[in-house]
Amino acid sequence: MNFTSEKLKKIKPSGIRELFAKSQGIEDVISLGIGAPDIHTPVELKEALKQAVDDNFNNYGQTPGYQGLREAITKKYKVDYGIEYDSTDGTIVTCGGVQLIYIALQTYLSKGDEVLVQDPCFLTYPRQVTLAGGKTVWMPSTDNFEIDIEKTKELITDKTKALMLNFPSNPTGAVMSREELKAMVDLAVDNDLLILSDEVYEYYTFDDVKHVHVGSIEGAYERTITINSFSKTFAIPGWRMGYGVTTPELMKPILGYHGFVVANATTPTQVALANFMHTPAAMEFKSKVKGIFQKRRDIIVDGLNSIEGINCQKPVGSFYCYPDISQTKYPDGESFSTKAFEESRVVLVPGTEFGPSQTNYVRASFGSADVTQLEEVVERLTSLIS
Ligand SMILES: Cc1ncc(COP(=O)(O)O)c(C=O)c1O
Repeated sequence: MNFTSEKLKKIKPSGIRELFAKSQGIEDVISLGIGAPDIHTPVELKEALKQAVDDNFNNYGQTPGYQGLREAITKKYKVDYGIEYDSTDGTIVTCGGVQLIYIALQTYLSKGDEVLVQDPCFLTYPRQVTLAGGKTVWMPSTDNFEIDIEKTKELITDKTKALMLNFPSNPTGAVMSREELKAMVDLAVDNDLLILSDEVYEYYTFDDVKHVHVGSIEGAYERTITINSFSKTFAIPGWRMGYGVTTPELMKPILGYHGFVVANATTPTQVALANFMHTPAAMEFKSKVKGIFQKRRDIIVDGLNSIEGINCQKPVGSFYCYPDISQTKYPDGESFSTKAFEESRVVLVPGTEFGPSQTNYVRASFGSADVTQLEEVVERLTSLIS
């Protein structure tokens, strides 16, 4: 007997989760697999959570989220980008960014609607599009992992409903400039598309590059749902705290869906974040982690490029790098990552997890390994490849 729904049967399981499970308990493994920071949650935030529990913030909360946190979120957008969102009707707190992507797609897609998604992308997007009854249409990338705008124009049909953007990108670490993003927004305006902009890595941009908030680009505000998360920013992926901002018109039906799925995101975690988000400790943590990631990035990227046959572009943001391994003796991502795991005990994710034309790549997360481990990875891969 198989009671599984037809829509779920279409979904390929997450290879990253499988790799994660496989590497557990094996001695001496260095995992550059999962996209989670290995840095501990700031002490002040942990204290704020304990305090919130002691202060009896343990009940159900309002569906859109704890009002104090929604105000802190809209303040953030004002401070960081000079953009106003409505803290009552235009802001939502969810159980992770993933849950917001889910409810936004469920809310806005009808059967057969097409969603433009970059190849490669965060592996959740195409699966969630399928779960919402939609169809993923892959936008090709340029050599430096930006969206190929001209080729994307040719993919628009009368079924195209939404455009998914994610900069800084998981898995490539690429960002697009304001001008290039404006061209993507123009495409959305010309074809009346909804924009979903996933900006969960907004604080991790390197070499003085500033993050561009898509909602701040002319023409974008009224058609963009911004997806964000505290998982990476404050090293709390296990708290499952995501959030989003958009116009009250676009938010209203999403809130209806959210109420039936989770009722509300966890209460004490929201209170803790509201009290922590704009403190000096929060600012210090963000800049400390950014510095750590930039240093790690330089070590792993230079190290990988010193190995014959590997070509790794320097990511401008996120905490991933995405080397091309096609000139090595294991020329496709699947066999490279299998060999790296079996012979060198290094976990890397094959590029094919992230999109249909990604056979030449593997993804390495430098969010989850320190400098010494990254140097060790380079040594191990050098011996594997030579
Ligand atoms: C691009 C992107 N968006 C969203 C998420 C979701 O994060 P969370 O659900 O922990 O908030 C991730 C996590 O890896 C991600 O890489």
